[in-house]
Amino acid sequence: MLTTELRELFKQMTIEEKVGQTIQLSADFFSEETEDITGPMNEMAMTEEKKFQVGSVLGVTGAEKTIKLQKEYMEKHRLSIPLLFMADIIHGDHTIFPIPLGLGATWDPELIKETASISAKEAAAQGLHITFSPMVDLVRDPRWGRVLESTGEDKTLNKHYARAFVEGYQGTDLKEDLTKLAACVKHFAGYGAPRGGRDYNSVDLNENTFREHYLPAYQEGIEAGAKLVMTAFNTIDNIPATGNKRLMREILRKEMKFNGVLISDWGAIGELVPHGVAQDNKQAAELALEAGVDIEMMSAAYSEHLVELVKADKNLETLLDETVMNILVLKEELGLFDNPYRGADTETEKTAIFSSENKAVALKTAEKSLVLLENKNALPLKQSEKVVLTGPMKDSHDLLGAWSWKGDKTKTPTLKEAMDHHLGKNTVKVIDETEIFNGAQSFLLAELQEADTVLVALGETSEMSGEATSRTNIQLPKMQIELLKELRKLNKKVVAVLFNGRPLDLSEVTPLVDGLVEAWFPGSKGAEAIVNVLYGVINPSGRLSMTFPRSVGQIPIFYNQDNTGRPSEQGGPADKYLSKYLDSENTPLYPFGYGLSYTTFEYTELTLSKTEITSADSIEASVVVRNTGVSAGTETVQLYIRDKVGEVVRPVKELHDFKQINLQPGERRTVNFTLLEEQLRYTHADHTVKSDPGEFLLGIGADSTIELTHSFNLIN
Ligand code: IFM
Repeated sequence: MLTTELRELFKQMTIEEKVGQTIQLSADFFSEETEDITGPMNEMAMTEEKKFQVGSVLGVTGAEKTIKLQKEYMEKHRLSIPLLFMADIIHGDHTIFPIPLGLGATWDPELIKETASISAKEAAAQGLHITFSPMVDLVRDPRWGRVLESTGEDKTLNKHYARAFVEGYQGTDLKEDLTKLAACVKHFAGYGAPRGGRDYNSVDLNENTFREHYLPAYQEGIEAGAKLVMTAFNTIDNIPATGNKRLMREILRKEMKFNGVLISDWGAIGELVPHGVAQDNKQAAELALEAGVDIEMMSAAYSEHLVELVKADKNLETLLDETVMNILVLKEELGLFDNPYRGADTETEKTAIFSSENKAVALKTAEKSLVLLENKNALPLKQSEKVVLTGPMKDSHDLLGAWSWKGDKTKTPTLKEAMDHHLGKNTVKVIDETEIFNGAQSFLLAELQEADTVLVALGETSEMSGEATSRTNIQLPKMQIELLKELRKLNKKVVAVLFNGRPLDLSEVTPLVDGLVEAWFPGSKGAEAIVNVLYGVINPSGRLSMTFPRSVGQIPIFYNQDNTGRPSEQGGPADKYLSKYLDSENTPLYPFGYGLSYTTFEYTELTLSKTEITSADSIEASVVVRNTGVSAGTETVQLYIRDKVGEVVRPVKELHDFKQINLQPGERRTVNFTLLEEQLRYTHADHTVKSDPGEFLLGIGADSTIELTHSFNLIN
């Protein structure tokens, strides 16, 4: 809302000052030292005068710096309009939580909200106002390195997380609560579907799929109140998102009712030129303004051409005015006109950052993010067991993952250090993996011979996933597979812990191990969490939010695929003339929703309160879940539905709801779900969202492979 004061301020602004508000520069423009640079440096002719007119800066760190810069800036700005400070606080600020794909595996939105709230608190104390998070891009292709930043492949789960992130960052009153940040939902839209999994590549989504699967999480983030949206680098309908008027004005602003600030991704306005939809930066600026992009991040189109464009065209001037108002309103909502330094405080920084409370949440989150993929009676390890630790990640501090902002690797214990801490110093024997290949010296061999279990820490380095890290081969590096083969020959239990930012092709790994723990990049307290899971201090409960393929050839593979006219469940050569591969099963190696526990759960007595539903009522679906093992455990109870006949082809199965329960050994609990007609709606051919009367199948169970055993009808 534009207040009277803002209107007055706005009236005093020159066109140059208005254009200034639309420009965002990286921190290094204002600092001697190179600060975080998160994109290519484009030519930008910035005069001192222009520099002190810009509306926002990205990547400045620390209360001292933000306060100093804000002060200097406001002194130099004719109207003393405060700067906005933005940064990529993606999965933590100083306290680093697991990468978002790991957060996705917790299936615990409340916990994710808590992590976002901690991130905001740490960042706000440093003077940041806005985080470029959450990334809510739906992902189906693990070749794309940025799957690390997504919470997964499912719209329902992603919607829960989108809301949790936004609520955690923003709280309920950004003006009053100085420990909060404004959230920026990104990357609008469809950035998670680049062709061939190659970053920045074009996106080819039909509009039905785009609306049905890709838009809902952005929509949820917007409905949760996100103040900003960031444009995507890719094309939608062959038009780059950043200059796509229909996408931004019709879909985002009108249909999705977004009325906040739309910021470009780094350099994305300038990239309209190499995309080939603008002949130069001037035309790029015009296209982006027409599409409604309010802030240009790090390219020179607005800064060099907007003044001239706007002076020559009244319509563009009106668009510029709207844009500037959006930005001023955001500054007002953050309370910057009353308090330009907002939460920045060097004293608060000392207590708010990396506190023991924050680390406790990082530990809990890491524990919940770990997914036990295999367990052939290998885990949990016994305290008395003789364990040898090896593998390239055995003593690595590289556990934070990409986009870990101010996370300090040196303060991140390694797996070896966490083992020492748990068992007592030097209890676990460490063998360098190269020794194993070298035939090992006799004393090392003896240690290996005496061991009960070989624990091997494998994976990708953190540079192998994140932005611009697409891979065509998503297996572990060859040497690591060779290492597993060598270890297998020893006739010992082999337990592997994996650090990685994407679903990997683990088909060669699975047969070589007795236990397999997917640890992602687990963050500041990751190693401790892993040890707690390995030794059964914690019963693992993570469930995959993205499918693990058998091979790169199956990609894109996701659980809620459309049925074909010639369906084949398993695939394989026998299914002649059915939809399958000659050389692979259709099924993935590890499906969506999958994860093991040290206990087992039994599902019985699935009941529906009735077999008909209308738009005026609901069906109660319930199931009894019993812990049939000997340890307490957490189960994620998942409800899937299939719409048997629709106007457009409906997925073979869709997650509709889930609940997490803790059960003691022998304990049983009835888990209830309420099903409404609105949950059965989907995008029709004309893009209206409605349900169709007819039969639906339903199942409740432990992962996306469950059978849909029950049926009900939707009637008008
Ligand atoms: O927020 C990021 C975005 O996700 C990728 N390009 C750079 C931006 C700012 O760092």
